Amino acid sequence: MKILVTGAAGFIGSNFVYQQLEDHPSDQIIALDSLTYAGNLKNLDGCKNNPNYKFVKIDIRDRESIYRLFDEECFDIVVNFAAESHVDRSIENPQIFLETNILGVNVLMDASLKYGVKRYHQVSTDEVYGDLPLDRKDLFFTETTPLHASSPYSASKASADLLVQAYHRTFDLNCTISRCSNNYGPYQFPEKMIPLMIHNALNDIPLPVYGQGINVRDWLHVRDHCKAIDLIMRKGRNGEVYNVGGHNEKANIEVVRTILKALGKDESLITFVTDRKGHDLRYAIDPQKIHAELGWLPETRFEEGIQETIQWYLDHQEWVDEVTSGDYQKYYEEMYGNR
Ligand code: NAD
Ligand code: DAU
Repeated sequence: MKILVTGAAGFIGSNFVYQQLEDHPSDQIIALDSLTYAGNLKNLDGCKNNPNYKFVKIDIRDRESIYRLFDEECFDIVVNFAAESHVDRSIENPQIFLETNILGVNVLMDASLKYGVKRYHQVSTDEVYGDLPLDRKDLFFTETTPLHASSPYSASKASADLLVQAYHRTFDLNCTISRCSNNYGPYQFPEKMIPLMIHNALNDIPLPVYGQGINVRDWLHVRDHCKAIDLIMRKGRNGEVYNVGGHNEKANIEVVRTILKALGKDESLITFVTDRKGHDLRYAIDPQKIHAELGWLPETRFEEGIQETIQWYLDHQEWVDEVTSGDYQKYYEEMYGNR
């Protein structure tokens, strides 16, 4: 099989490429990325000599280049990770989110129809459901929870999901959608909470916790997310949505304390800063459908996964130094300077 992985140089995309090459050694992987600030070709260094792997630098909004690629390669499966993915950036500058996350998806779906792709998989997010109250631990997102996005990022992802479903109904696009909770693990860019807090703690920089740190996220190791996508795109039912999550809810402050403890740093580094606008309170996934239909269950417990992740960042200081130099410093100053 020939598989196109878009957004392959980002956090989840790169983990997914490694997993595909390892678990399906007879498949061919074409890794595509436009290499925005979040895309890093070094993330894929470990597979550059694999004969079943090839990288192409293309923007998913570039219809002409995408069509040319699809014409040349005849993909069996397209799995789309490419996106602007950071909520805080979407609050500062929504436009690029609409362009990549909606119009880019439109280009990929048109190409999939035109060139006979057998399965288009859209990597979506639990954020399309909005949030849940903190005091109703009995409530979870299911696949039938109405879409109710809060940020420009989640609205753009929800729009893409609606478009994928419309292409399925109207044009018979063979497709699946996965909606996963928060991922953590290697290669995550330190604008997201976990790698940002690890980086700051290591450098004795204050850890900026939004609001009171009581917002809850449902954490899943990136490896488990990749395995879920692998199952869905190969075996999931045409036109279906699958929620992915591991019942692992944690308040942000709890995660931050875990990181400080693991690094032997003092809690006085915690600084409560102005809350995120429209900050979603709680995410919690009901993964019953993917378990029942595809037998998926998470394999990594947070307690071990977070220690392994912290160790990865400790062992990859060169990677961290590179991605936190230059533009990152400007971003950090703009985002946190007067917060
Ligand atoms: P990321 O920001 O680390 O990676 C996104 C990648 O897409 C980058 O390599 C970037 O260069 C590339 N990209 C951006 N715009 C592009 C364009 N126009 N053309 C081609 N490539 C482009 O994001 P991530 O955390 O790896 O997320 C990947 C996907 O998974 C996203 O669609 C996101 O919505 C979804 N998701 C993420 C999480 C999470 O916790 N990180 C959870 C659920 C779903
Ligand atoms: O739920 C899936 C989503 O998870 C994905 O769709 C998004 O792409 C991904 O970025 C993530 O969104 P979040 O907004 O939940 O992740 P983030 O790491 O930005 O923030 C996690 C929580 O930590 C959130 O409640 C905000 C808080 N936070 C974040 C940062 C960056 C802080 O308190 N301080 C920070 O500096």
